[in-house]
Amino acid sequence: MHARSVAEGIWWVGAVDWDRRLFDSLIPLPDGTSYNAYVVRGAEKTVLIDAVDPSMERFLFSRLADAGVERLDYVVSNHSEQDHSGLLPRVLERFPGARVLATGKARGFLADLLDIPGERVVEVREGEKLPLGGLTLEFLHCPWVHWPETMLTWVPERRVLFPCDLFGAHLATGELFVRDPGEVLPAAKRYYAEILMPFRSVFEKNLARVAALDPAVIAPSHGPLYRDPKIILDAYRDWVGGPPRNLCVVAYVSMHDSTRGMAEHLVDACLRRGVRAESVELSGADVGRLAMLLVDAATLAVGTPTVNGAAHPLAAYAAILANLLKPKARHLAVFGSYGWGGRAVEQLQSLVPSLKVEVLPPVLCRGLPRQADREALDRLAGEIARRHTGLP
Ligand code: FEO
Repeated sequence: MHARSVAEGIWWVGAVDWDRRLFDSLIPLPDGTSYNAYVVRGAEKTVLIDAVDPSMERFLFSRLADAGVERLDYVVSNHSEQDHSGLLPRVLERFPGARVLATGKARGFLADLLDIPGERVVEVREGEKLPLGGLTLEFLHCPWVHWPETMLTWVPERRVLFPCDLFGAHLATGELFVRDPGEVLPAAKRYYAEILMPFRSVFEKNLARVAALDPAVIAPSHGPLYRDPKIILDAYRDWVGGPPRNLCVVAYVSMHDSTRGMAEHLVDACLRRGVRAESVELSGADVGRLAMLLVDAATLAVGTPTVNGAAHPLAAYAAILANLLKPKARHLAVFGSYGWGGRAVEQLQSLVPSLKVEVLPPVLCRGLPRQADREALDRLAGEIARRHTGLP
């Protein structure tokens, strides 16, 4: 397996996982993923930046051999999650002289998650610089850009930034660098939606920090690298800080087509009023699509039948997921059909305590939706359209 050149003295030694289809037993990977690891070699010291998922051990070690790495002085662990640091015990075994560079918080995670002994870990401070001989590593602590221990590593002489998960994309591709932004940005948006959106509130200052570095290359830990960092920085500025869009996501599940009929009517009623509406049927849904839509949506409408007096479990799942992802949506609507009553609306509302949303009046019908119910959905669409006035 060959190591690929990123810049003078810097090589990619990662692995492309073409076949993986699920991450964290939660996140669909329709396009696979990659685990990017890098070697930075100065005149005096050689460093590995991040490792790969343990299942990809053979790729990392054969690429390290191809890069001529016989000795490692350090391994930078920007992030302790196992898809990057899970192979560290094997790396440290193979290179007994190597020590791990990580934040103080990461030292605890590496011990808890991977049994890495504390004496093999060197804590690096915010802004600390490590000269390698002609090249330097600089460490930028960015807590909660995903995990509390996360840091970014910067090589000023080459203006290459290694931000680990930040700016990543679950995308298996033979392209080392982004060639077609139209192909990569949807995967990057999906990645942001599923993994990083919950930490949106700390992103703005970190994006400004990254932009101030003026990187020539952004080399994340998943997906291709950016030689034109403006592409991904502009996209993040919009996803993180841009206003919500004039978009209503109608996520619903239906048992005998009554709630489906209501969802179809609501989508049409929104469209007729100039509101973009997207339908997500939850029993067959790709939750990644739902997450991506929630990056932009100003309104989330959840449709559910009542099952034994409660919301359908798939509608509850969608609400729990939205609560975890913390999108910028401003309004929540609940609609659905019931047979003999129940507390589906209260239950769904109780599942989204993290969302800062105005709850619109619910629309519930007994059994089949009839004319009066369709008129209630029209009124709901009107309320949504009124609240979306002025949104892009
Ligand atoms: Fe790619 Fe948070 O690990």
